[in-house]
Amino acid sequence: MKIGFIGAGKVGTSFGKYLVNNGFFVEGYYSRSYISAEKASNITNSKAYRNISELTQKADVICITTNDDSIKSVCDEIAINDGFKKGSMVGHMSGALSSVILESAKKQNCSIFSLHPLQAFASIEKAVLDLENTVFSIEGDERIKEITKILDICGNKYFIVDSKDKTLYHIAACIVSNYTVTLMDFGLAIFETIGIDKEKGFRALLPLINGSLENINKYGTAAALTGPIARGDINTITKHIEEIKVRSPDMLENYCMLGKKTTELASKMKLEGREDIIKKLNEKWKEGLR
Ligand SMILES: NC(=O)c1ccc[n+]([C@@H]2O[C@H](COP(=O)([O-])OP(=O)(O)OC[C@H]3O[C@@H](n4cnc5c(N)ncnc54)[C@H](OP(=O)(O)O)[C@@H]3O)[C@@H](O)[C@H]2O)c1
Repeated sequence: MKIGFIGAGKVGTSFGKYLVNNGFFVEGYYSRSYISAEKASNITNSKAYRNISELTQKADVICITTNDDSIKSVCDEIAINDGFKKGSMVGHMSGALSSVILESAKKQNCSIFSLHPLQAFASIEKAVLDLENTVFSIEGDERIKEITKILDICGNKYFIVDSKDKTLYHIAACIVSNYTVTLMDFGLAIFETIGIDKEKGFRALLPLINGSLENINKYGTAAALTGPIARGDINTITKHIEEIKVRSPDMLENYCMLGKKTTELASKMKLEGREDIIKKLNEKWKEGLR
């Protein structure tokens, strides 16, 4: 099976290298700039292409690993020029889009898929290592079994997502991955206002976050929840809100919004049956969100 990549960036290059490490044959790369294609081909011992259809005519599997906004137009352009090899599999690796955007390839008798690694690719070297423990989602037509086989050989876990659910799937992944970073920044900014710099603050909070993650892993989210909301300490929450109003009023809305969401979670287990406390907490959030 010959695998080709269009878009020699972080994901295309590192996934290509990962496939090579797992015994697959990467045919080569085409990219907007030949320099990128050459760089990726050197890393993967494959060929850099100057002509896109030379690559698409050779490859049995084509991964379009451009930025999301270019995937459809790249695919359509190849299809218009009758560039895909008949019977090949054409996919992309975006989490936000489904394989439906590759319908022009489908009309050319290719099968279509999307294969999304639940991983943040900051650098190629680190990504190749991280890929070993990465879980993928797969979505596409009846031939996606052939893509699952690739992951089986690599030893990666995966799950199948319905095309119509791909956006919701991506929303969930973004909430967990991106908003965790934002929450860290939110807390660290408060630390900074009392003279604890971001680096020191992060080192201090890291064991706390790691502990929370371990607790989620062991017990699930509802049981892992700790803190004043889970305990139903209304006086502590009242004090928080009063302090935020005086020291940092612009934070009030965000604090209350997260508090409301946390109360929802707490009511499933930690505050189960304590309707009076849940009601009082929700009144506090409502007041702050006005
Ligand atoms: N980064 C992540 O953490 C991550 C995680 C999961 C999934 N993804 C998905 O993976 C895909 C690639 O993301 P990335 O982070 O690897 O992006 P990236 O590093 O910016 O790489 C994109 C590559 O696409 C090339 N390109 C852009 N337009 C092109 C075109 N019209 N024709 C040919 N090549 C073109 C660029 O070319 P040149 O270098 O030649 O200019 C660049 O090398 C996206 O669909 C993204 O959603 C990313």
